[in-house]
Amino acid sequence: MTPSSPAPRPDALHGAGAAAAGAAAGTTGDPHLDRYAARTTGMTASEIRALFAVASRPEVVSLAGGMPNLAALPLDSLAVEVGDLVATEGQGALQYGSAQGVPVLREQIGEVMAFEAGSLAATGGFAPDDVVVTVGSQSALDMLTRLFVDPGDVVLAESPSYVGALGSFAAYQAEVRHVAMDDDGLVPAALEEALERLAREGRRAKFLYTVPNFHNPVGVSLAPGRRAQVVELCRRYGVLIVEDNPYGLLGFDGQTYESLRSLDPENVVYLGSFSKIFASGLRVGWALAPHGIRDKLVLAAESATLCPPAFTQLVVSRYLATHDWRSLVKSFREMYRERCEAMLGALETHLPEGCSWTRPRGGFFVWATVPEGVDTRAMLPRAISARVAYASGTGFHADGSGARHMRLSFCYPPPERIVEGVRRLAGVLDGELEVLRTFGLSGSGATGARPSSGTPGPQAPSVDTA
Ligand SMILES: Cc1ncc(COP(=O)(O)O)c(C=O)c1O
Repeated sequence: MTPSSPAPRPDALHGAGAAAAGAAAGTTGDPHLDRYAARTTGMTASEIRALFAVASRPEVVSLAGGMPNLAALPLDSLAVEVGDLVATEGQGALQYGSAQGVPVLREQIGEVMAFEAGSLAATGGFAPDDVVVTVGSQSALDMLTRLFVDPGDVVLAESPSYVGALGSFAAYQAEVRHVAMDDDGLVPAALEEALERLAREGRRAKFLYTVPNFHNPVGVSLAPGRRAQVVELCRRYGVLIVEDNPYGLLGFDGQTYESLRSLDPENVVYLGSFSKIFASGLRVGWALAPHGIRDKLVLAAESATLCPPAFTQLVVSRYLATHDWRSLVKSFREMYRERCEAMLGALETHLPEGCSWTRPRGGFFVWATVPEGVDTRAMLPRAISARVAYASGTGFHADGSGARHMRLSFCYPPPERIVEGVRRLAGVLDGELEVLRTFGLSGSGATGARPSSGTPGPQAPSVDTA
């Protein structure tokens, strides 16, 4: 089968799946097909997006998405603040603004980072002028890739890595080299090996992309003892670090980690976001970069959007100024801890022998490994038929490998739904293993689904899998 052939799926899934497969194969009758830039070949729809219409039905428990749970947000008082913002500052809030971001918010970002680091000095120190406000950290990732990556350039990223980052790397035709992780995060010896191999090839990675805290999709954090090693290796080999930290404040016990940026401010671009600690729909994030890179980011922002929306930045600014956001962050931690515990307990109770999973201490995600022979990508339509969705590990690897893994999100459904979702997932896995035992094939292989290895991994960033 060709990589773009649709996998067999239950009838209920045909509509959405066929449309996406058609788009990937270029069979939609698009009359502009021969005009697109070469880079668009790397832009493919997330495989789960095709299934999303079905997966988002209320009867399906979705453990697939990375949507923050906004239930604890004080919507009434926020509404008052937003109304007042329009009434009293509307002329500025609804106007074009600076491409670097609204000054008052850049100031307040210092407070947020100091809350995580313990003090402003512990962040590595910075001034509001070092900050560039971005349209979520996703746009910072896109702009950084645009600034640094020519087609064929190497980007180093953890194995597995955040799907939205891989989507940006693919869109700019980067060659992604994955670096192994274990329960303590990125493995320094594996990083050194990757850097050394590149040096032998006469090449140098443009940057290392890493999510050191409560990783998406694995859920683990880079051990404190490894941080200086990673920073030192990158400096030694002349490789910039892009440190992406949207989950750093969501340690269940309030545990936070030293940022890589604080260890080497001149060689690290730090990305932060209000998506997981306030409101993802406002699309406000930030980059903290050495001055040369900061200036280029501002130019890139100008050419992309002229400026980030002043209105959403001022909503964030009001929220920070008028609400006890630190206490709200603490309540988010509690909410996610409870959900994570529900998931871990259910996995222990229900998942068949031979499965393993990570035990996160923060963030949104558990990374599960299934027994040899089971293909989580091919199994997904059957899981959705059984009314549970997850994100297959294949989306988190640039080469489409990772079929023995899946990402299970505990952030959104309430605990009892998580438990029910895991119970359904266990039933599907039992079925796959039964076929495997009977026919000596994976349940997926037995039904003729395409193999996952060698299929295109990088996908367009998608809200379904973020
Ligand atoms: C690791 C990581 N980086 C970046 C993003 C994008 O976040 P934002 O909403 O700030 O664009 C996400 C979203 O899930 C993420 O998990």
